[in-house]
Amino acid sequence: MASAAGGGGRGSVGRRLGASVAVNFFVLVVVGVAGIIGTTRAHDSVDYLAKQVEPAATVNADALQELTDAETYVWGYGISGEQSLLDKYVAARTRFRENRARLERLRSLDPQLGLLVDDFLLSAQNWFAAYADPRTAGPVGLGTFDALRFDRAQVLFADVRTTNAAVSERVRELSTAAERSSNDLERSLVIMLVGVLVAGAAGSLFVARRSGQQVTEPLGALEETAQRLARGDHAARAPVTGPREVVQVASAINRMADENDRARAVESRVVDQLRALDAVKSDFVSNVSHELRTPLTSILGYLELLEEELVGRTADTEQDMLRAAKRNVLRLGELIEDLLALTRSESQGTELKELDLASLTRDLVTDLRVASSQQGVEIRLGVPAAPVPVMADAGQIARVVTNLVSNAVKFSQGASEVAVSVVRDGDDAVLTVEDHGIGIPSEELDQLGSRFYRASNAVHLGITGTGLGLRIVQAIVENHHGSVDLRSVQGVGTTVWVRLPVLQPDESHRADAADSTDPAEVG
Ligand SMILES: Nc1ncnc2c1ncn2[C@@H]1O[C@H](COP(=O)(O)OP(=O)(O)OP(=O)(O)O)[C@@H](O)[C@H]1O
Ligand SMILES: [Mg+2]
Repeated sequence: MASAAGGGGRGSVGRRLGASVAVNFFVLVVVGVAGIIGTTRAHDSVDYLAKQVEPAATVNADALQELTDAETYVWGYGISGEQSLLDKYVAARTRFRENRARLERLRSLDPQLGLLVDDFLLSAQNWFAAYADPRTAGPVGLGTFDALRFDRAQVLFADVRTTNAAVSERVRELSTAAERSSNDLERSLVIMLVGVLVAGAAGSLFVARRSGQQVTEPLGALEETAQRLARGDHAARAPVTGPREVVQVASAINRMADENDRARAVESRVVDQLRALDAVKSDFVSNVSHELRTPLTSILGYLELLEEELVGRTADTEQDMLRAAKRNVLRLGELIEDLLALTRSESQGTELKELDLASLTRDLVTDLRVASSQQGVEIRLGVPAAPVPVMADAGQIARVVTNLVSNAVKFSQGASEVAVSVVRDGDDAVLTVEDHGIGIPSEELDQLGSRFYRASNAVHLGITGTGLGLRIVQAIVENHHGSVDLRSVQGVGTTVWVRLPVLQPDESHRADAADSTDPAEVG
């Protein structure tokens, strides 16, 4: 027997499930942390876009607007000399100066943007120093227009526009780059999360399947062992492997199987002893019966001699006494025959040969009709012309038919008809014996078939018998794998059915073969 320790150190079902849960938990934590980091970084880049790059574009556009205003007002003031235009120029210049600080802060965003901002500020400075400031400080009015100065101013301001456009372009580039990196980040975050999830799910599946296998495989082995034991394979033992709980169940099944083996061994010893006792009992009964037969035959012989010797010389009472003695000797003889028949049918083998139940019954009924008609009972016979083959011991089946028909005639008591039939019903041959006699009290039906049991009405009516006939019938029919059924109503009648398996055509061939070699024996 396998030991409980074999392979048992692989942990319990709980521990295996715990491993699976731990893997799942780890995957969840990784996915959660990655999600938080990714979300924070995506948020940072959106923040960078919203808080720094977009305001830079506005500051740059505002600066150009102030300078454009300043250019318009300085030109108007130079031509008209109107004080209000000079004021507006000064205001625009002041607003530009204020903007300048905000522009300078853009340097921290990006070194290249810083250089471009410096270029822009320088070109604006050049325009103020070389044109705008001198123009407002000098003489004004229509007559002061100088085409050469105007063209130079136009060139300087075109430089201002160009450098400002360069700043705008760079801000746009930064904005696009920030947006792209935010999108890239988002995409890689999604890819990473999906990757981690897929890997985690695959890992969990793997762990769950492995722990499942480690549990289901030993359980499958347990199931197979239980089924083999149930099928009667007493050598089957469960492998003691797998999780702790399964190991415990396997050990329990193996212990139970060992116990069953021990119990079976004890049972078989007891059965052997009982068989031996039964054989001793049967031997005793048959020996005693045999020993009684010889003196009985001798007593019967002497009684018959005495009867012949004393014919005409004895009184009627002495003749009656002689007849009573002979009758009782004959009854004792029948009892001994019954006991021998019962012992034989209960303990000895049965010689089975192919037999036609229909013709056997026909012959027996023909013989029994002589005695029955003396008792005023007619036996109606219904058997088919075609044979009804059964595998049977002819002598024993003849005893079955005789016992049942004799009972029916004996217990008819005034009824005039007994019906005997043989029919084929599917795979069965059925012998039916029906009478309309005294019947059997319903409360006594259960006890029929016990040795020496006779129904109370039969005893009261003084009908003779030993109460062994039905027991013999049962024992013989059981030996032939058949069944006996009895239905009876007191005062109405009794019907007995005997079912025997019909001999099938293929069995018939085998029976022929067996017949020519060695007759089959059924114990
Ligand atoms: N056809 C029947 N009608 C009424 N009673 C019956 C019938 N067959 C059997 N019995 C009852 O069952 C009892 C047992 O029957 P069984 O044949 O074993 O014994 P028996 O006929 O009394 O004696 P024997 O051993 O000589 O046959 C009978 O004594 C009788 O009471
Ligand atoms: Mg009888």
